[in-house]
Amino acid sequence: MAVRLGDDAPNFTAESTEGTIDFHEWKGDSWAVLFSHPKDYTPVCTTELGRVAELKPEWEKRGVKVIGLSVDGLGSHKGWDGDIKDVTGHSLNYPLIADEDRKVADLYDMIHPNANDTLTVRTVFVIGPDNKVKLNLTYPASTGRNFDEILRVIDSLQLTANHKVATPSDWKQGEDVIISPALSDDEATAAFPAGFEAKKPYLRVTKQPS
Ligand code: BEZ
Repeated sequence: MAVRLGDDAPNFTAESTEGTIDFHEWKGDSWAVLFSHPKDYTPVCTTELGRVAELKPEWEKRGVKVIGLSVDGLGSHKGWDGDIKDVTGHSLNYPLIADEDRKVADLYDMIHPNANDTLTVRTVFVIGPDNKVKLNLTYPASTGRNFDEILRVIDSLQLTANHKVATPSDWKQGEDVIISPALSDDEATAAFPAGFEAKKPYLRVTKQPS
């Protein structure tokens, strides 16, 4: 059964490069990114895992805990870390789950048999402080992910969790936002003292609330 937006992110216990992890306990009330990669000692995955490590200050700035997963074993994960450091300049600084029995991969539907019947696809789950799934992305093995885009989405998720706004196409932190259509004009005027521009009655733009 697929894990979809708004669902509870299922809990699990798994071995990782940072010891045994109870997912919900490890996550606490933080935001979290749970991502799978197809296989250790493969080229695209090497670049991805180094990039996630390089972005540690960005995850921390947003209060996000990151955890990776593949169906390789702990020995493989730990040996591969040296290559990740050689290639990208960054060692793993987040736990990597060794899901050899595919327990977590099955729980989160990370193996797509028509793509590959044994390896996990490149899945990303962003999970909120309430343990609900806020974002689910799936990429094929041949395409490395853009983790700047995942940070951008987290910025939008965190903003829209706290304010009655939505973010337009290609929005970035600091740019104008869209007022929720659920607010009347009077309510919008009260909620956004900077005012708004109605490009259409249903599309009202305002400064990003802080
Ligand atoms: C890669 O990371 O390059 C990769 C992983 C699995 C299959 C194909 C490519």
